Amino acid sequence: MKATDYADIVSPLLTWYAANGRDLPWRNTRDPYRIWLSEIMLQQTRVEAVKGYYARFLKALPSLADLAAAEEEQLLKLWEGLGYYSRVRNMQKAARVVMEEYGGALPADHDALLGLCGIGPYTAAAIASIAFSIPKAVVDGNVLRVFTRVCADATDIGDAQFKKAVAQKLDAIIPTEEPGTFNQAMMDLGAMVCAPGQIPRCDICPLSSFCRAHLAHEETAYPVRSKAKPRKIEKMTVFLIRDGENYAIRKRQERGLLAGMYEPVHTSGWLDEEEALTFIKGLHLDPLHIERIEDAVHIFTHKEWHMRAYEIRVGSLPGKEPQGLVFADPTQMRQTYPLPSAFAVYKKHMGVL
Ligand code: ADE
Repeated sequence: MKATDYADIVSPLLTWYAANGRDLPWRNTRDPYRIWLSEIMLQQTRVEAVKGYYARFLKALPSLADLAAAEEEQLLKLWEGLGYYSRVRNMQKAARVVMEEYGGALPADHDALLGLCGIGPYTAAAIASIAFSIPKAVVDGNVLRVFTRVCADATDIGDAQFKKAVAQKLDAIIPTEEPGTFNQAMMDLGAMVCAPGQIPRCDICPLSSFCRAHLAHEETAYPVRSKAKPRKIEKMTVFLIRDGENYAIRKRQERGLLAGMYEPVHTSGWLDEEEALTFIKGLHLDPLHIERIEDAVHIFTHKEWHMRAYEIRVGSLPGKEPQGLVFADPTQMRQTYPLPSAFAVYKKHMGVL
C-alpha cells in the first residue's frame, strides 16, 4: 500500500466511531489524571474488568495530589485483583514527580509524559492525544492487527522496529483536530470488529472496501507473530497456617513480582506431608493437624505458578507473630492486607473472597 493510502482509513473510521464507539466512563472527561488512570488500568486488563476499579479508585483518590499522598497499602488495596501492581506504584512515583516538577498537573507534552515513570509510548500517546489533542498515534496489539490487515503486511509484529514504523505512519495521518478520537476509534475497531481470537466482522467494518487482507480473503493470516517463549513453570507449596480463625500471612519483598503485597507462606517445590510438617517446624511453629487442600495454577505473563497446598493448624503461639508473620482473620485481610489474585483459590479457602 502506498504511503498516501493510509489516509483512506481516517474518514470512514471516524464516521464509524461516531455511531458505534463505546461509551466508557473515561471517555466523558478531559481530565488528564483520569485519562492517565484509565490507560494504566487498561494495560493488561479488560475494559469490563476495569470499569469498577476505575470508579472505586477515583472515589478514594479523586486527584493526582491524592494519589501522590496515598499510603502504599491503600494503593495496593485499590489495585487488588487487577494484577501487575508495579503499574500503580509507578503511577504514584510519577504523580510525586508531577507534584514537584509540574505544579501538580500532567504536562501537555508528549515527550515529557514519556519521561514519567510507567508511561511508555502507548500511554504517552493516549494521554497526549485524548487529554491534550496532541497528534500522536497509539500502537498496541489491536492497532497492529487493524494495520497489518488493512495493508496485508506480513512483518512480525513482535519486532519493536516495526511497531515504531507503524507509529510513525499513523502519526503522519492522524487528524490534528481530533487525534484522541482517532486513537479511540482504532482501539474500538480493534476490540469490537477487527477483534483478536475471533472471526473478524468484515461485514460491518468501515475499512473492508479497501482492506487488502479482506480483499484477498486472508484476514486471519494477519497479524504475523513469531512464537512467544514458553512460560517458566514454578512448582510451589503453599501453607495456610491457621491458629483459631486467623491465618498467617507475610509481606513480600519491596521489589519484583507482586512487590510489597501480602501472601500465605510458601516455598518452592512440591512438598509431601512429612516435608511440609518439617518446614512448619522450621518456622518455630507447632503443627497440630495437616490437611492437603486443592491445587491451583496461576498464570503470569512470563511464568506459571503450579501450587500444591496444605492447611495446617498450629498450636496457640507463645509470644507473637514469629518470623515476620502476621496472623489475621478474614475481615482484617479484606480490609487491610492486599493479597494478590494469584492466591485466589486460597483466599477463598480462608474466607477472604
Ligand atoms: N484500551 C486502552 N486504552 C483504551 C481506551 N481509552 N478505551 C478503550 N480501550 C482502551
